[in-house]
Amino acid sequence: MRTKIIAGNWKMHFNPAEASLLVHRLDDKIKADKNVEVVFCPPFIDLYPVFKEINHDKFKLGSQNIHYLDEGPYTGEISPTMLKGLVEYAIIGHSERRQHAGETDKVIQKKMAAALRNTIKPILCVGETLVEREHHAAKKVVTDQLTADLHLVTAEEMEDVVIAYEPVWAISSGDGKGKFATPDEVAPQIAAIRHTIEELYGEEVGQKIQVLYGGSANPDNCKAYLGMDGIDGLLVGGASLNYEQFAAMVSCAQEIAAK
Ligand code: PGA
Repeated sequence: MRTKIIAGNWKMHFNPAEASLLVHRLDDKIKADKNVEVVFCPPFIDLYPVFKEINHDKFKLGSQNIHYLDEGPYTGEISPTMLKGLVEYAIIGHSERRQHAGETDKVIQKKMAAALRNTIKPILCVGETLVEREHHAAKKVVTDQLTADLHLVTAEEMEDVVIAYEPVWAISSGDGKGKFATPDEVAPQIAAIRHTIEELYGEEVGQKIQVLYGGSANPDNCKAYLGMDGIDGLLVGGASLNYEQFAAMVSCAQEIAAK
């Protein structure tokens, strides 16, 4: 059985004191469970203080981004070698970075390789925009993104890769103005993702890889997503900022994993 992952993407929220308060509250609410990994992805400034405070048997850390080079004259950037040992995961190719930081598949491809050579597990985000969906290109978009973004990744390295399907139109910051993705809309895309991985790396890798859903996931809808065939967890934005909501979503995953 594939382990479930509930990852909180805090985006650009919380200074170190606020981050500390949140992780303490989450520590009180959440019980360790070997079937569900709980991952926090705080802003860079919070990573080290949170690293020092959390119970590492219970919580893992991820960064929201990495640079694709190990070092160099890149003012304001954070390299994977700096993060090595501090984070277990890195979110790569989030739609907000594709959109606001101009990240292309070529850059994302290099970031995937950079994470893996530094033993950081990438959570690669793929997903179509509203316009792409309306033009019936949703499946092609995720297939093309995966093919390009995984270009430098070997079949052995795929053991450490997690994919997050995040339809841009369903993300709270996205172009869908608060739309939710229904399981019927999500299912064919999850199937397309697994199919693409199978085409690229073979059936075994395609069946083993963990695929998360992300896009306005909250305590009310998490059961529907987590109950779906082929979904192994959630990448949570807005609802991860609220300890009660995030803890409820972790409990939901734990209940489903126990069945
Ligand atoms: P959201 O964000 O849950 O606020 O829609 C998800 C994400 O961007 O990863």
